[in-house]
Amino acid sequence: MTQPAATPTVRDVDARHRYEILVGEVRAGLTAYRDRDEQRVFFHTEVDDAFAGQGLASVLVREALNDVRASGKRIVPVCPYVAKFLKKHEEFADITDPVTPEVLQWLEAARAH
Ligand SMILES: CC(C)(COP(=O)(O)OP(=O)(O)OC[C@H]1O[C@@H](n2cnc3c(N)ncnc32)[C@H](O)[C@@H]1OP(=O)(O)O)[C@@H](O)C(=O)NCCC(=O)NCCS
Repeated sequence: MTQPAATPTVRDVDARHRYEILVGEVRAGLTAYRDRDEQRVFFHTEVDDAFAGQGLASVLVREALNDVRASGKRIVPVCPYVAKFLKKHEEFADITDPVTPEVLQWLEAARAH
């Protein structure tokens, strides 16, 4: 089995409202959010084609959700990838809130800024 070139690391880039995953010095992907009071609303996840299919989105989202838990916030999974991840990983169910029309409307306005 081939080993990845470097251990990926995840960081919260708060000013840009996103977590990024780095492989060595290279940014391989991101998961973007907006904060709605205590809710962290995740709306888009992407991994660059060059790094696809290696499980990096899964590492990124797991670390992001662990960080949400550590900060005492809650998760709203608007992003389909995050929603799918949460279905498979029930350990985050206690801090997950549903995607409601209200949240979607709020998100649209928040992203326009
Ligand atoms: C979706 C994406 C982030 C996955 O990145 P990755 O590092 O290759 O993903 P992983 O190897 O960790 O996981 C692959 C899983 O993603 C799932 N997946 C792929 N595209 C998906 C999508 N659009 N929505 C939900 N899940 C998706 C696959 O079914 C696979 O699931 P499995 O683990 O149950 O087999 C990447 O393909 C991407 O950037 N796609 C374009 C943007 C996009 O569609 N983002 C998702 C919606 S915001």
